[in-house]
Amino acid sequence: MRIPFFLITILLLSLQFNASPVGGSKKVTNIRFYLHNTHKVNDPSSVLVAQNTNATAHARGLVPFSSVYVFDDVLTKGATSRSKVDGNAQGMYVETGKDGYTILLTIDCEMTDGPFKGSSFVMFSRNEFRKPIREVPVIGGRGAFRMAKGYGLLKTVCVDCINSVKPSKGDIIEYNVTLYLH
Ligand SMILES: *[C@@H]1O[C@H](CO)[C@@H](O)[C@H](O)[C@H]1NC(C)=O
Ligand SMILES: *[C@@H]1O[C@H](CO)[C@@H](O)[C@H](O)[C@H]1NC(C)=O
Repeated sequence: MRIPFFLITILLLSLQFNASPVGGSKKVTNIRFYLHNTHKVNDPSSVLVAQNTNATAHARGLVPFSSVYVFDDVLTKGATSRSKVDGNAQGMYVETGKDGYTILLTIDCEMTDGPFKGSSFVMFSRNEFRKPIREVPVIGGRGAFRMAKGYGLLKTVCVDCINSVKPSKGDIIEYNVTLYLH
């Protein structure tokens, strides 16, 4: 079959457009912080909001399959709960693994201090939390993080270790996030 000449021209033009860099070069930024997810208290930062009727009866693993948690967590510079607060993370996680060890994490991390104050980036991925390091993709952001891409490496610092607040119980997770900004 003979392909009309104008179609080839359009095809070549669109290939050229795709090949040209969009928005110029990207700046790589690394941000590290610690997330404090507290529970089992009067004022938890993470709460269970839904679960299948049989979730606990037939539970496997640590978090019963189908459990939905909503959280509003503090982010600090250092690994302890007394460390300086420099951000806030809001989102939810759902136990999507029937093994009880894999959550689907949706998290919006807003910086409340420093050069990125008022800006946030969003991560979305499954998170097999028994692995020593979990990679979670950055899928976008607001403000200085607009159109951001990147990835976070998540590491559990400790489980049920927060007891200096109120008295509270909770987990601390290290977030080491590499962002590619325009
Ligand atoms: C819960 O388990 C019972 C017994 O195994 C079953 O009959 C019922 O359909 C289950 N309910 C749900 C909502 O899965
Ligand atoms: C943080 O992640 C970056 C990029 O993956 C890596 O080069 C760096 O060693 C990590 N830093 C720490 C303290 O783990």
